[in-house]
Amino acid sequence: MKSNDQIKSKIPVGILGATGSVGQKFIELLAEHPWFEIAAVAASDRSAGKAYRDAAHWFMSKPLPSRIADMTVKACEPDLPCRIVFSGLDASVAGEIETNFAKAGYIVISNSRNHRSDPDVPILVPEVNADHLEIVKTQQNGQGAIITNPNCAATGLVVALKPLLDKFGLSKVNVVTMQAISGAGYPGVASLDIIDNVVPFIGGEEGKLESEPQKILGNYCDGRIEPAQFKVSASCNRVAVTDGHMECVSVKLARKPSANKIITEWKEFRSEPQRLKLPSAPANPLCYFEENNYPQPKLHRLLGDGMTVAIGRLRECPILDYKFVLLSHNTIRGAAGGAILNAELFVAKGGLETRK
Ligand SMILES: NC(=O)c1ccc[n+]([C@@H]2O[C@H](COP(=O)([O-])OP(=O)(O)OC[C@H]3O[C@@H](n4cnc5c(N)ncnc54)[C@H](OP(=O)(O)O)[C@@H]3O)[C@@H](O)[C@H]2O)c1
Repeated sequence: MKSNDQIKSKIPVGILGATGSVGQKFIELLAEHPWFEIAAVAASDRSAGKAYRDAAHWFMSKPLPSRIADMTVKACEPDLPCRIVFSGLDASVAGEIETNFAKAGYIVISNSRNHRSDPDVPILVPEVNADHLEIVKTQQNGQGAIITNPNCAATGLVVALKPLLDKFGLSKVNVVTMQAISGAGYPGVASLDIIDNVVPFIGGEEGKLESEPQKILGNYCDGRIEPAQFKVSASCNRVAVTDGHMECVSVKLARKPSANKIITEWKEFRSEPQRLKLPSAPANPLCYFEENNYPQPKLHRLLGDGMTVAIGRLRECPILDYKFVLLSHNTIRGAAGGAILNAELFVAKGGLETRK
């Protein structure tokens, strides 16, 4: 197990899809990272060969680091000067490009949906299923590997459900989302479609939210992930919020505890990233608010540097057992920050050494 002190020199990493919404968030979060250093940025042929400052329309709140602005954008070919690549690629191209990189020996840490349902690929959320990382050993990618993170709305949901499943059992989940505009990438949803509006459909989103949580919360045993046996019904909406997905969740538990017992489990929840003191791990993966009008995207999306999932309004549900509201930052916890935490876990567990 590697600790912060044992990472002597920074590990070079590349970013695929570096010009997009998630790619820019990777650059922002990796700029000051204690373990990783950006060695390459890559995107489509439209951007390849240009200086990054000319290829990307930078819209992060922190200034674009000059070292990155001067970098020449590469094509997404597996000849980048690094072992780890973070992928923020458009799903229409991510599948094949990520496979090519893994087969060439790269460790691909992906945000895209393409490989999430592959039986030998983990959908990793280190607070929830750090043990699923073992399954990469069964991948037929030589020294390479593919590790994915969940759909951005599934991430907050599984962190909130983990203590409930472990302590009380879980049989049914109903979730209604209010998802931020940045979840659609850049330029995303046309302003005339979203200002003064709610769009009650996000292509493909409900299917992901109804299937990914069972794999993520499943048991890893004998080289296989056995999905958890609960059902999810999801309704997904796009709302006029820039960052931060809100979700109204109702749950049916196997054993119904008091509301106070649930809140205590959420407040006390800590896991592997906190024990390992991974650089991107929030001190508290979950934060429960007693105020009945919290959490709110504008106020709480940056809790724990965007890595803490905020929860509030736990109350009895007349149809299932309990209902509550959660909020999680979609481009940090649900995308770039979550992927960086995955890479930290992989490195801390000695993954780079075992896949030399
Ligand atoms: N936004 C979120 O909150 C979020 C959360 C979780 C997961 N995701 C997933 O993360 C991925 C990226 O999302 P995004 O929102 O960042 O999308 P985006 O803003 O549209 O960015 C897409 C990136 O893919 C690159 N690309 C497009 N076609 C390419 C090609 N043929 N070859 C190589 N690169 C190509 C683009 O490069 P050019 O600039 O050169 O075109 C750009 O860098 C998607 O799979 C998405 O589902 C997004």
